[in-house]
Amino acid sequence: MIAFHAVDVIKAKRDGEVLTDGQIRSFLEAYTAGAIAEEQAAALLMAIFWRGMTADELTTWTDAMVASGERLDLSTVGRPTVDKHSTGGVGDKVSLPLVAIVAACGAAVPQLSGRGLGHTGGTLDKMESIPGWRAALPPDEMTRVLQDVGGVICAAGPRLAPADRKLYALRDVTGTVESIPLIASSIMSKKIAEGTQALVLDVKVGTGAFMSDLGQARALAETMVQLGQANGVRTSALITAMDTPLGRAVGNAVEVEESLDVLRGEGPEDLVTITHALAREMLALAGVDADADAVRHDGRAMATWRAMVVAQGGDPDATLPRATDYLAVRAPESGYVTRLDARAVGNAVWRLGAGRARKEDPVSKTAGIWCRAKPGEWVEEGQPVMELAIDDPARVPAALDALTGAFDIGPEPPPPRDLIIDYIHF
Ligand code: URA
Repeated sequence: MIAFHAVDVIKAKRDGEVLTDGQIRSFLEAYTAGAIAEEQAAALLMAIFWRGMTADELTTWTDAMVASGERLDLSTVGRPTVDKHSTGGVGDKVSLPLVAIVAACGAAVPQLSGRGLGHTGGTLDKMESIPGWRAALPPDEMTRVLQDVGGVICAAGPRLAPADRKLYALRDVTGTVESIPLIASSIMSKKIAEGTQALVLDVKVGTGAFMSDLGQARALAETMVQLGQANGVRTSALITAMDTPLGRAVGNAVEVEESLDVLRGEGPEDLVTITHALAREMLALAGVDADADAVRHDGRAMATWRAMVVAQGGDPDATLPRATDYLAVRAPESGYVTRLDARAVGNAVWRLGAGRARKEDPVSKTAGIWCRAKPGEWVEEGQPVMELAIDDPARVPAALDALTGAFDIGPEPPPPRDLIIDYIHF
């Protein structure tokens, strides 16, 4: 009976019809319960990939994904809740300092994060390079840490939007990831289920991002903002550049090191700029009147970070793991770095062992790349442009291969670029 209904839903979408609320809800409910075959779900995903979804279909689809699991209740936290989600990039460690900064300002940040897949890193993988730190936190403990400390970075539990967990794995192997309605519903169902009152999206565009086309990035941002608003989550988005790695560190432990610089009131300018822009936006949505820069410079953000780490079993004073070997990639001539490609650096770090090809793969805590010269900076011939942090020498040739053509050097600096390309508010 259910299989019969499922094929009707697939055919309707295949033929460009608008699905009814009932069709969408029954399909997702049955699929989550294991009553619809994977090949049928795959066929529907491919039909959605080609036919898209109307705004109403997408609202129902997202709502049904949220309803496939539980929606956290953060009403007892006692502070306004606000979260951030990035669509992922290379060197994007913003969540680490940002959660502590916004929490130190008085909001609560319930950040349920993911692991890295492919060339982009994952916040949990980075945090796990801190000795003792654990990603799993049951909902009641998460609420307690939010009450006491204000910031949590942890893994989403199995009961949070389980339909997305199954669908995302299926999309990964059926070539149906790059669909705006499927990406928007996947991201937003998890954020809505998380129970946050407000959300700022950092939609990245460029070679190191999911979307390399600005029009597509804007469409994704607008779709997600509308979904958030329709579900009672105050949502806005920034569209930010991801053509070159953010900051200088790319990897796991190396990105924690750089995040600590930001929390000390230092850190690379591009990383600080994006962190502050997101912090300001989050505080505005949460209705908290506080100065993110002040808490970064007077030690309050660092104190909150330390409390966050301790609350999840980590030792904030422990030395971070370091690679055993380093290898410089040197400038073949003197000049300005005019391009340093985010995708190539992300792929190289992945091949060095810091990323994974399959969800179950382990990652290296210490492998990574330090970008010693970024676009606009001058290098002398022979000076390092990048430094590879290595813990498995057998991986170096593949990483160097990924870096072929990764940067250009020229006599003139490249034109200045906007890091923050647009703000989307409704
Ligand atoms: N991140 C998600 O959570 N889902 C997507 O579909 C893409 C990125």
